[in-house]
Amino acid sequence: MLRTTNLCKIEVINTMKKLILSLFVAGLALAASAEDGHLLWLRSQPVNKAKVITKKSSPTIQIAKEELETYYNGERVTLKLDGKMPDDDGYRIDGTTITARRDVGLLYGAYALLRMQQTSALGHQPSALLESHPTYSLRLLNHWDNPNGTVERGFAGRSIFLNPDPERMKIYARANASIGINGAVLNNVNAKPEALKTESLQKAKQIADQLRPYGIKVYLSINFASPIKVGGLTTADPLNADVIRWWKDKVNEIYKMIPDFGGFLVKANSEGEPGPQDFGRTHADGANMLGKVLKPHQGIVMWRAFVYAPQSPDRANQAYLEFMPLDGQFADNVIIQIKNGPVDFQPREPYSPLFTAMKKTPMMVEFQITQEYLGAANHLVYLAPMWKEFFSFVKPASLKAMAGVANIGDDTNWCGHHFAQSNWYAFGRLAWNPDLTSEQIAEEWLAQSFDMKAAANSQLLSVMLDSREACVNYMMPLGIHHIFAGTHHYGPEPWYAPRGVRADWTPPYYHKADSIGLGFDRTMNGSANVKQYPEALCRMYNDINTCPENLLAWFHHVPWDHRMKSGRTFWDELCHKYDDGVREARHFLTVWDSMQPYVDSQRFEEVQRKLRIQARDAEWWRDACLLYFQTFSHRPIPQDMDHPVHNLDEMMKFNIPIGMYENPAQGYTK
Ligand code: GCU
Repeated sequence: MLRTTNLCKIEVINTMKKLILSLFVAGLALAASAEDGHLLWLRSQPVNKAKVITKKSSPTIQIAKEELETYYNGERVTLKLDGKMPDDDGYRIDGTTITARRDVGLLYGAYALLRMQQTSALGHQPSALLESHPTYSLRLLNHWDNPNGTVERGFAGRSIFLNPDPERMKIYARANASIGINGAVLNNVNAKPEALKTESLQKAKQIADQLRPYGIKVYLSINFASPIKVGGLTTADPLNADVIRWWKDKVNEIYKMIPDFGGFLVKANSEGEPGPQDFGRTHADGANMLGKVLKPHQGIVMWRAFVYAPQSPDRANQAYLEFMPLDGQFADNVIIQIKNGPVDFQPREPYSPLFTAMKKTPMMVEFQITQEYLGAANHLVYLAPMWKEFFSFVKPASLKAMAGVANIGDDTNWCGHHFAQSNWYAFGRLAWNPDLTSEQIAEEWLAQSFDMKAAANSQLLSVMLDSREACVNYMMPLGIHHIFAGTHHYGPEPWYAPRGVRADWTPPYYHKADSIGLGFDRTMNGSANVKQYPEALCRMYNDINTCPENLLAWFHHVPWDHRMKSGRTFWDELCHKYDDGVREARHFLTVWDSMQPYVDSQRFEEVQRKLRIQARDAEWWRDACLLYFQTFSHRPIPQDMDHPVHNLDEMMKFNIPIGMYENPAQGYTK
């Protein structure tokens, strides 16, 4: 009896166990199929097969081992350190043996092997032997996060560093390590002085400790007036002995807490931020003082060249004018960080001429991953083609490093738009190897981010590859730039010019539309900006007949009747470009709709919603810009294209709801 009861009990317990187990498994399966984008491109399910052999152990090697043991679908992987390999973060994969000089190289090699596994179904068989070394030793994200949790030009929620949650930090660190990003500047370039207060440093230390095993160092943006604002001194003059001592003490304090601290990023004498010029000193004086203080700790200074003064007749000329006289005067641990274009992250700009002009100064490029001027988190715009365009003019080897302004926030999917994750991904991959093509990177990302049927769809790949040009077309084609609304950088307001606002913060400063034509004359007869480029480019840009048409209104005031290569007048071409952009945006939506059978429902619907906004915004851009420019051109909209469906008054009254700027998705759809 007793025995039977016990048996019964055991059976009941077993049945319950089974039930619980099956519920658990069902739960897991559900969790696995629910796709909210939170795992980014690292969505593999554990396979738990591989045995990983390694002699040395360290926190970083341990991560490499765990990643492979969990996700590698093979029997055995060997991790080997080899002191004869080049002294960098690179790795060699020979079958299933990963060799590297550094621990972090083994981690990068592990992620590369997993990436090969994930993408092999595309039909590109990975070669058995692969050796890869990074072009840049510094591959950094710049977060524009404020201490109160807001993110400047952030469209994906609040700062992930406000309360650094270990689980989130782990996904962030994994994602970065998987694409080779090895540094994070934790705070906004418009740096609050309190970033250097001891409480803030403690937080930075906490983050540094979480990121370190993944090979990621932390850096801070600093406010140049910190000696006054935090230190209570009366000056921040970089040549003043008390000021230097203050920085030394501060830097010592930082390195006590964070022994591998990377260094400082500095925005000085720009848009109202303090800098050495406030004390009669130069950028070099300021940067070198900080460089000297950081040097004993192997820290670096990234000094930004984003400078312009309100009274200048051409903002595009200014960084060159301020920095060229200082070429060769910077300390060897100072790098000048220059935005890719001479104005400000526009949908299309020529490269900043400083990159080819400065010969004796270490330089790095700053790209913007967050889409401040490219539809925020609402528009699907894959940015690799824009960055590759930059590298078609500037040799990767002429730079020391690459930085990208992050598009990351605490939204579940990190970037606000599922496809914006591809820009984070592409930035990392290009910082490792700028020779990769936009197409290779997009294919890799698609293969890892979606299931194969969607990922292998060539139309989806074309959407990504065409998206940047489409955005240029519907926002500002043919070299037009900075015609954004004054109070946000989301929609069009080419007419915005209220009295009292500085001219270079209003669109007419840039488009200069009048009865003759449209565009900024930067030729030798105008602002002479062309002269900042090498001889051959200068000649090409200076002549309206040889200037590339996609930069025509950047360099020329183009007459409305100027004959374009297509045979159309400039006005007709402009109209067609805007209309092409609208049609392309609609086409993206049509392609996406056909993906429904292959994409999980949540991501499908979220992307679909955004693509509808994008198509609508494209129409808003076309109608607002064409109807406004038409008041100058006095020419008809060509018959062979779709005509504006709104009228100008309506467009000029259109107000974006409050809240839209910080979170366009919310504001626009309400
Ligand atoms: C742009 C942007 C600002 C930012 C600045 C910079 O102007 O709109 O928010 O602070 O660039 O890069 O410093």
